[in-house]
Amino acid sequence: MDYIHGYSDAEQIRLIEQAEYWQEKLILKDLNYQAGESLLEIGCGAGAVLGILGRAFPGLRLAGIDLSDKQIEYAKNHLGNLNLSNLDLRVGDAARLPWQNNQFDRLYAIWFLEHLPDPLQVLQEANRVLKPGGTITLTETDYRTILITPESSDYRYLMDSLCELLLQAKGNPYMGQSLATLLNQAGFERVNNQPVSFHYAHCLNSEELRGFIEYVYSWLAPIVDRAVINLGKDRQKLQAGLDWFGSISDRDDGAVSATIYRAHATIK
Ligand SMILES: C[S@@+](CC[C@H](N)C(=O)[O-])C[C@H]1O[C@@H](n2cnc3c(N)ncnc32)[C@H](O)[C@@H]1O
Repeated sequence: MDYIHGYSDAEQIRLIEQAEYWQEKLILKDLNYQAGESLLEIGCGAGAVLGILGRAFPGLRLAGIDLSDKQIEYAKNHLGNLNLSNLDLRVGDAARLPWQNNQFDRLYAIWFLEHLPDPLQVLQEANRVLKPGGTITLTETDYRTILITPESSDYRYLMDSLCELLLQAKGNPYMGQSLATLLNQAGFERVNNQPVSFHYAHCLNSEELRGFIEYVYSWLAPIVDRAVINLGKDRQKLQAGLDWFGSISDRDDGAVSATIYRAHATIK
């Protein structure tokens, strides 16, 4: 699988920082997990989000699965350092979960389905391993919603290239908008999908604007090389788009918006 973010040490640290950035804004939003419940995160990566959930909900029994042994190794160390125990971390494919039916109270996935060639199969598997009455929570974006002011054609070129890279890797850069449809198709009930929008402007709060720009920049910068190598894109234009994006936080008229989709559902 051509996973667009790769598995470098820097990427693992980025995942930890990303989860810290989103913990209050998104990761813990609308959750009411109880001690003693079991939770599986599919596509858990370096364990960054499991760490946030485990700290926020003591007594949760945590499980995670990722395709990459390097990620799971990192996750074991990371969660151990947070003194979280009762862990079941496995290397494997979320399309063929190595658990019996009806094992988990909670299923969680974030920044994950966008990378999958067959997200429906993965959600059917999620359905299978959830207990009756279990819940699923999904969080994904649609990269077309990351808007900047002032606009720049180079920035647009860079974001279009990001979408092309995800499509080339058989993922879906617009995944956020398909969550409800997929959950319905996978047999879930009481499905909802809420857009959660963020808007930061220099004149409103320059530090929040800077924080968001720095966060996006951290995963956008490595895309430049990939878009040149995998898609033959124009490096100068990509770099100009990235530089423009980075400069937004220094401008008096700078602003950015983004929408992220948060879906919940249950099974009978
Ligand atoms: C962007 S990372 C997100 C990790 C984690 N959810 C987080 O927010 O920190 C996506 C992860 O999905 C994993 N992945 C991709 N396809 C997978 C599959 N079919 N089964 C399990 N994991 C997969 C990748 O190895 C990668 O670690």
